[in-house]
Amino acid sequence: MSYVDSRIKRIIITEDEIRSAIKEAGKRITEKYYGKPLLLVSILNGAFVFMSDLCRAIDAPLEISFMCAKSYYNSTSSSGNVNITMDISQDISGYHVIIVEDIVDTGRTLSEVVKILNARNPLSLEVVTLLDKPDRRVVDFDPDEALFTIPDYFVIGYGLDCGEKYRNLPYIAEYNEEA
Ligand code: IMP
Ligand code: MG
Repeated sequence: MSYVDSRIKRIIITEDEIRSAIKEAGKRITEKYYGKPLLLVSILNGAFVFMSDLCRAIDAPLEISFMCAKSYYNSTSSSGNVNITMDISQDISGYHVIIVEDIVDTGRTLSEVVKILNARNPLSLEVVTLLDKPDRRVVDFDPDEALFTIPDYFVIGYGLDCGEKYRNLPYIAEYNEEA
């Protein structure tokens, strides 16, 4: 651990584990989409670190774009509704689109984003998430690929925040709510 903070309970996924899972995902995406018009759409803010590593693990021409969806407000529980506060600007009808997300929790954010993007008729649409917490699901939604499936822990690091902090940790850690 590089800095000591009582809110960091323990590391559950190390930098090395993240790196090798992303390498595998990048290989799969490269093989599936090489030579096809590919657009990666990442959901800000949480997915910015994953997006930056995943896009560099893909050895194929691609474009990237960002959307901002808000559903957590400075706490460890979901507010229940999803706000698209920044949308992508391009016409996606000529692209195979991969949504790049940090975590699927209740599933509300992605089911909403998938609905919105599917309505714009992409050539295909898939969802790749770094983390999946299936125990927390409240809407029927499954990502096409989850690099790691985790229990119902609130996690921080590698883009994921608690009250906007800890996004810069290079690993995924369990957050200590009692500290
Ligand atoms: P949803 O509940 O599936 O809609 O997830 C909404 C968003 O909540 C995710 O994109 C994350 O930004 C955030 N989130 C869910 N679980 C966690 C967590 O364990 N740590 C930090 N953020 C989380
Ligand atoms: Mg997010």
